[in-house]
Amino acid sequence: MSVVKIPDAGGDNIRFLEVDGHLYPKDPFVVSPVDVIKGISDLPIREDDVLVCAYPKCGTHWVWEMARLLLSSDTETVIIKEKFMLEFIGNDILEKFPSPRVFNTHCLVKQLPRGVIEKKCKIIYILRNPKDMAVSFFHHHKKIKSYAYDGKWENYFPLLLDGKVDFGSFFTYLKDWAAIGTTHPDLPILTLVYEDLKEDPLPNIKKLANFLNAEKSEEFYLKVKELTNFNKMKATKGKFITLPDGSSIMYRKGEVGEWKHYFTVAQNELFDRTYKENMADCHIKFRYTL
Ligand code: A3P
Repeated sequence: MSVVKIPDAGGDNIRFLEVDGHLYPKDPFVVSPVDVIKGISDLPIREDDVLVCAYPKCGTHWVWEMARLLLSSDTETVIIKEKFMLEFIGNDILEKFPSPRVFNTHCLVKQLPRGVIEKKCKIIYILRNPKDMAVSFFHHHKKIKSYAYDGKWENYFPLLLDGKVDFGSFFTYLKDWAAIGTTHPDLPILTLVYEDLKEDPLPNIKKLANFLNAEKSEEFYLKVKELTNFNKMKATKGKFITLPDGSSIMYRKGEVGEWKHYFTVAQNELFDRTYKENMADCHIKFRYTL
């Protein structure tokens, strides 16, 4: 296992795990993280497995819970998405879960389990305004102990733009996933947008149910909306991964447009310029406010 320390622009280090040239979180809960990560491509996949795919901090917890509720109809059990995360959990555990399983991952398309491509499993892909993602990832890196990071936003910002974080550059990630319609035209993919979900969850929950062939009553959809509301999820699931003071790490603000409180005018210009340079041939329309 290779643990690397990457300095931000102010010299504060962030600690990651490096596997085959890619950076991952150095998760303290996994006994043999390198084996788990190296095993992803060969993971035995079932035809009815579903994958929730997103760059970190784009709403994976939220959408995973919606999909889980719709497919299981189980509104009682409180279970966290980390138990179904391909980078953290190996087949010895995943194989014990009954079908249909809902996995989640921050992998690039080429890193997905081969079986997902072969069996044409359903994929839910989430997009979020990358400026809010950046702010969210900053707090994530500061709060989770295994990163051992205590840097400042202004020094973190260039590091993120440079893609020197776990799961790599978000430019690479966005381009990789934007090309999936061309690279894998047969794969069933539903794209959900964080800002659309915030604006009006219900039609998106119904769209998701339709995609998963898991149509339910209006009453059930309202229940899913209620259970996946930010405050509700924070109160239930937020207790599992916390700071020493008990506050939730994964459920922070859940808002659209928080980047405006962090980005300086110069940072915003640099971001837009860097985005343009990196994404010249890739047209993704983001909503930066509601
Ligand atoms: P913020 O840090 O901006 O609050 P991921 O699940 O991919 O790690 O993304 C985490 C982000 O989604 C965090 O954003 C988190 O607060 C937000 N989030 C989690 N659950 C949510 C929900 N039910 N509704 C809205 N946002 C949610």
